Amino acid sequence: MATRWRNSVTWRWVVNICRFILGATFVFSGFVKAVDPLGTSYKIQDYLTAFGLSELVPDMVPIALSVALAVLEFGVGVHLMLGIKRRATTRLALLIMIVMTPLTLYLALTNPISDCGCFGDALVLTNWQTFGKNVVLLICAIVVFITPWNMVRFLTKKMEWTLSNYSVVFAFALAVYCLATLPIIDFRPYRIGNNIREGMVIPEGAKPTVFDTRFVMEKDGVKQTFTIDNYPDSTWTFISAETVVVEKGYEPPIHDFVMEEMETGDDITDDVLDDPGYTFLLVMHRTEEANEGNIDLINELYEYSKEHEYKFYALSSSSAEAIELWRDRTGAEYPFCIMDDITLKTIVRSNPGLVLIREGMILNKWCDSQIPDEFKLTAPLEELTLGQTKEVNDLKTLGWVCVWFLVPLALIVLIDRIFNKKNNNKNNNKLIKRSMRKKIVAGNWKMNMNLQEGVALAKELNEALAADKPNCDVVICTPFIHLATVAQFLNQDVIGLGAENCADKVKGAYTGEVSAEMVKSTGAQYVILGHSERREYYKETPEILKEKVLLALANGLKVIFCIGESLAEREANQQNEVVKAELEGSVFNLSAAEFANIIIAYEPIWAIGTGKTATAEQAEEIHAYIRGCVAEKYGAEVADNTSILYGGSCKASNAPELFAKPDIDGGLIGGASLKCTDFKGIIDAWKK
Ligand code: PGA
Repeated sequence: MATRWRNSVTWRWVVNICRFILGATFVFSGFVKAVDPLGTSYKIQDYLTAFGLSELVPDMVPIALSVALAVLEFGVGVHLMLGIKRRATTRLALLIMIVMTPLTLYLALTNPISDCGCFGDALVLTNWQTFGKNVVLLICAIVVFITPWNMVRFLTKKMEWTLSNYSVVFAFALAVYCLATLPIIDFRPYRIGNNIREGMVIPEGAKPTVFDTRFVMEKDGVKQTFTIDNYPDSTWTFISAETVVVEKGYEPPIHDFVMEEMETGDDITDDVLDDPGYTFLLVMHRTEEANEGNIDLINELYEYSKEHEYKFYALSSSSAEAIELWRDRTGAEYPFCIMDDITLKTIVRSNPGLVLIREGMILNKWCDSQIPDEFKLTAPLEELTLGQTKEVNDLKTLGWVCVWFLVPLALIVLIDRIFNKKNNNKNNNKLIKRSMRKKIVAGNWKMNMNLQEGVALAKELNEALAADKPNCDVVICTPFIHLATVAQFLNQDVIGLGAENCADKVKGAYTGEVSAEMVKSTGAQYVILGHSERREYYKETPEILKEKVLLALANGLKVIFCIGESLAEREANQQNEVVKAELEGSVFNLSAAEFANIIIAYEPIWAIGTGKTATAEQAEEIHAYIRGCVAEKYGAEVADNTSILYGGSCKASNAPELFAKPDIDGGLIGGASLKCTDFKGIIDAWKK
């Protein structure tokens, strides 16, 4: 049976493994993007250029998209890992994978960009590797989407809300911080402590890139392609030549660090990298886009370098005119060298950004807002800590990130707890419990009213509750034939809609039956199961009900599950055993997460439709007992969150007394739900 495997332990394991694979990947991917949002925005720019869209999109878009992507991925990852808002999260994760997988297949096939950039510079994958990874993640996303409720939750509902918001704020703050300064973890070959010279070395024996040149030649009107090995004689006329990479060899991490003096065109790379003294490199990949806010500091730093005989070069890929313009605007006197644009963007994620090197070793880096000023440059660099290699420890940084994530979070939770405790202390015990669970008044129309009458009643109720909002959840459970019509006009934010029954089979040749899926497809959200009339007249056994409950839940319906003793059983004082056995027989097989969708309705059979009501005390006693059974099975928290309704001759006159009891969370109303005024009178009991 479909519901069986979906509730099996093996499937649960599969779902939870998939959710962690998916969650961890999203967290990692979001985190590395938040650490280097500028890097991601460059990648987005590359994509836009490859698709010919770069001209159409405003400059701010790639950076805004990059931050949004980081927040989205990190947020979804945290939600998946902790099991927050499982249904919405798994839908979103699946949607992301449905978009990303075909896109990465397209990238792998057409190869407009060699590295997709999904993990920034932290983990560079080829396009085919990325596609493979996405196929795995898509499978995981489908698995968790099928039964999100199988994901184990690690937080209470309240904590979920806090953590959900906090994870988004955190990722956003991290991205903005790294954008305003520099990436807190540098995954690029130009990280502090690396030697540029060493990054350029090709190890001995490394495979070189193999090129091949193809020559197109023509003779007597016939074109043919030749290689250097079979180059033809001079009777052939040369048409064109093309050099292709036959096999990509080893490419050192740094392969494009070339400094060319702007005025002379001289390559001074070796001079700079071999210099035993300090060299400041002011990196401005494009002077026309560079921030001019700190030009005075830069000019002072240049003066300081001259004074101490340190080298100072500005590196840019801008045109000579643009550089002249920069000089005019800022009074810059320092020499400029030309370097490749991508290399400059890779060296430092700030425009301008400053790098201090000695003998090719990167000692320190600064973004433009943190360029050292006269208060820091009080002596020659040899005597200052800033002239030594800055200590970088990624693990320590990661530790700090965790602290920054956890400490404010712990504080929020603490404040929340203290605040709630204070509030709770002001209220009585009844309210504390009530605040945790829903107050519900549900109508059970049974086999009453034709379609027109039912529609008229539902409309009347719709209007009455629109005019006077209830302060409890209201549900009407109607015969099957009313559902689809009523669902179309009922304001389901105020009045929920439910069926009175559903089949114990998924679908097929069961003449006259209506499946849970069909009920759900009408727009209904609830179903009553286990009503004593169905148990008695239609011989529904605990086993049949168990199947019905599983099917209803699997189709996303909330179940109002009825239990209750007969008169004989009450007289024999067996009511407790009866209700417990009914719970055990049909709903205690559920997981705690599934049980969250169960509303219990205690209906003593002797009180149904008889005019005899259980006294409020009698009802409270057994409701408390039922809650105890739930607590024993699922723990106090689940029990506190479970709504237990009373049913059996409940009317506007006795509802206030019944609902005033701490363990009675509302009513399941039969006869009195057939007239709008009667039903509304019971709903209004919650206002008394
Ligand atoms: P009643 O029915 O209110 O007419 O007693 C309750 C029920 O059967 O749900």
